[in-house]
Amino acid sequence: MMAESQSGYNVETIRNLFPILNRKVKGRDLIYFDNAATAQKPIQVIEALTHYYSHYNANIHRGLHTLADEATAAFEATRHSIQHFIGAAVPEEIIFTKGTTESINLVASAWGNTHLQKGDEIIISSLEHHANIVPWQMVAEARGAQLRVIPIDDNGVLDMEAFQNMLNEKTRFVSIVHASNALGVINPVEDIITLAHKFDALVLVDAAQSSVHLELDVQQLDCDFLVFSGHKIYGPTGTGILYGKKALLEMLPPYQGGGEMIKEVTFEKTTYNELPFKFEAGTPNIADFIALKPAVDFIQDIGKKNIHAHEDALLRYATEKLETIDGLHIRGNVANKVSVVSFTIDDIHPQDLAILLDNQGIAVRTGHHCAQPLMKRLGIVGTTRASFAAYNTFEEIDIFAQALNKSIKMLK
Ligand code: ALA
Repeated sequence: MMAESQSGYNVETIRNLFPILNRKVKGRDLIYFDNAATAQKPIQVIEALTHYYSHYNANIHRGLHTLADEATAAFEATRHSIQHFIGAAVPEEIIFTKGTTESINLVASAWGNTHLQKGDEIIISSLEHHANIVPWQMVAEARGAQLRVIPIDDNGVLDMEAFQNMLNEKTRFVSIVHASNALGVINPVEDIITLAHKFDALVLVDAAQSSVHLELDVQQLDCDFLVFSGHKIYGPTGTGILYGKKALLEMLPPYQGGGEMIKEVTFEKTTYNELPFKFEAGTPNIADFIALKPAVDFIQDIGKKNIHAHEDALLRYATEKLETIDGLHIRGNVANKVSVVSFTIDDIHPQDLAILLDNQGIAVRTGHHCAQPLMKRLGIVGTTRASFAAYNTFEEIDIFAQALNKSIKMLK
């Protein structure tokens, strides 16, 4: 087993913040390797939820009473925290949604329905999650636009030459995943943005997987939109973020109508609220957004770079161990990836493997990972995916490798 701690990184102290890591599954200590699906929550996040409901539950932006003021201040504090987390220029550029999926749907609908014309082209990649395929298909069909797909090689690496050849004066939008949820492969989004902007195409970066692992600076990236989910960065479910350049968000029509997003309503005409409220119709997910701030603080207190170094060491350790297993094929086995090991094993169905691993207390995700076109391109039905977070250990990987070997023997 490798040494547990990097310089200054104390994984035991971090683990102690996560109550769920004390539980047993099927009589064994839980080993949670399904972090790409959702991360576990530190105690600060759980306590922020109960504190809000116990002390200042109120609707926000409307009331003129103490509870409403406190709830509004806490909710808006999260917006500032997210602004700094991704380097946005102003808080109005941060729109709260219910998740990455809703953020992409918002842009595809609000921008696509007002800007796409017959014959226009939208570019996505072969690595996309369904959430970054289907909304674009829907709007392309409605507007008579064409969806084009950047091909990949057998390791999941984008064919950048093909992308360059795809770009033309009809390209209006490029919507691209930063790190593949299914394989972990990181895309060269900086180059993609620069190239797309040469053709005046807008670029949305799907940072659902990268936001927890990689430093993000939207101003440096110069992306037009960036989306991610709070629950993958140790925050509550039902918290999504849409970053958009202010001028673009101002130009877009609202996505949904209702309370909060209006300035004035008459039966003849409604005028809309300012950013970010124009895109936040109805009572938002107040408690969960309030509890997202301690999740961001958790990451920033440890330092994303430190967490990334730990996860990267886990990734390399797991890759080396798994590569020695006969008949096991790591999919997306490239140097530039986040801490995801996705693999197939000859003659073994991923679902059978997942059941045996669960019996040994190990949680992994199996299947197509909401990326059916990617699985089809790779010629597989699905993979088994182990994904690592700040609290995972080398010892857990040792146990995982032993459990894998045991399961393979049982299944062959
Ligand atoms: N998109 C999440 C995953 O990859 C749910 O598991």
